[in-house]
Amino acid sequence: MVVSYKHEPFTDFSVQENRSALESELKKAESELGKEYPLIIGGERIMTDEKIKVVNPANKKEVLGYVSKANQDLAEKAHKIADETFDWWRKTKAPFRADILFRAAAIIRRRKHEFTAHLIKEGGKPWKEADADTAEAIDFMEYYGRQILEIDKGAAVNSRPIENNRFHYIPLGVGVVISPWNFLFAIMAGTTTAAMVSGNTVLLKPASATPIIAYKMMEVLEQAGLPAGVINYIPGSGKEVGDYLVDHPRTRFVSFTGSREVGTRIFERAAKVQPGQQWLKRTIIEMGGKDTIVVDKDSDLELAADAITYSAFGFSGQKCSACSRVVAHEEIYDELVDRVVAKTKEEVAYGDPASYSSYMGPVIDQAAYDKILDYIKIGKEEGNLKTGGKGDDSKGWFIEPTVFADLEPNARIMQEEIFGPVVAFAKAKTFDEAIEIANNTDYGLTGAVITNNRAHIEQAREDFHVGNLYFNRGCTAAIVGYHPFGGFNMSGTDSKAGGPDYLIHHMQGKTTSEML
Ligand code: SER
Repeated sequence: MVVSYKHEPFTDFSVQENRSALESELKKAESELGKEYPLIIGGERIMTDEKIKVVNPANKKEVLGYVSKANQDLAEKAHKIADETFDWWRKTKAPFRADILFRAAAIIRRRKHEFTAHLIKEGGKPWKEADADTAEAIDFMEYYGRQILEIDKGAAVNSRPIENNRFHYIPLGVGVVISPWNFLFAIMAGTTTAAMVSGNTVLLKPASATPIIAYKMMEVLEQAGLPAGVINYIPGSGKEVGDYLVDHPRTRFVSFTGSREVGTRIFERAAKVQPGQQWLKRTIIEMGGKDTIVVDKDSDLELAADAITYSAFGFSGQKCSACSRVVAHEEIYDELVDRVVAKTKEEVAYGDPASYSSYMGPVIDQAAYDKILDYIKIGKEEGNLKTGGKGDDSKGWFIEPTVFADLEPNARIMQEEIFGPVVAFAKAKTFDEAIEIANNTDYGLTGAVITNNRAHIEQAREDFHVGNLYFNRGCTAAIVGYHPFGGFNMSGTDSKAGGPDYLIHHMQGKTTSEML
């Protein structure tokens, strides 16, 4: 029997001992700079000539490593091995697979600050965010390990005196996992291990900005007993390798987390039945958000300001769950804007994430930096800039925490995902109108309502159309096993990562019936 699931606690960095532990790991991380990393196909390390250069977004000159890049031939080799491995892996017992995850989680927990230090460098994450990312990776492993043991018990179906009926889930086949750079450890580990522990074999193509952490996870899983060929590590270009794997007739499912543009492209391509393909491909797709915090007239404005500031600027707003819109009742609107602006100026120190005092670090790369500054330009035309608005890419890709007020609900910065430290405010005359504005986007991922009005909570529960709705708190920071995470509409397939039915998306139900 395994002990019940409980989420991994966050580290208290106000304790000197914890601060020193992370500082010493940050120093150690320096010795790994510039290393070369191979692909891992069928357990074999393959170093390629063409490499992905991985840099620290807070310091572009610091090269963290050079990661081998797969081409189509190597992707084909990996696919063939994953396909062959599936033949026997699918028959392994659920406890055997779950134990690999429990061991991997224990290894990561023991070396927690080492991983967190790496995330600070590779992802540009401030301490608190990096620590939460490591904790969430552990959580996914612990949670999915337990979930497969539950599913393995089978589901109740009726039998009759003349027959014995059973219903159980079997794995799908070879899965392609394409993971994002923002939760470079947690989402990468969660999507990969969910597919694996369900009995599938995996081709893991991590985000090109953050492939090193995925290599490190591979080492941990191998140490934990993962057999060769079950997960194959093949970083590479989306257009060359990603499309090839998605289109491949032997690909059984694709699990993607990332932008709406790439997600819809994968959805379309996966829908096309290729010559020789024997199934309809399954897709598990988590895309963007345009997430709103609604603030009612009868509400705790200090709580609201805290929730907005953290949800908008935690990890520089680079979360699909980030708050990028606030809709506030007209009676409290001005006061709320003032409070958020004051809090942003006082509390959101931005700078090198390696320093404990930085609340916010850089954005991930030049393309993100340019795109966010373009949106800030648009915001200046559409609304009133209250604070921030500037960037500095001389050393790393830094952008000030930025607040815009007085937006029309249909303004571009109220509709389009920015994925940066920018939040826009709009005013509503009534609570009904606030919910209407909140729903007025293509997305439906997260949202929050700050109110003391019980009836409004119930109204929002019915009418605010998002996959993760929170009351009297921010709209980020879902916890595995507590807040199953995924969104409606153009936010994706609502597959609910960290929830009780997530693994089922990687499996298919089989009924057997024996005459007695
Ligand atoms: N699960 C994360 C959050 O809730 C986003 O991916 O913030």
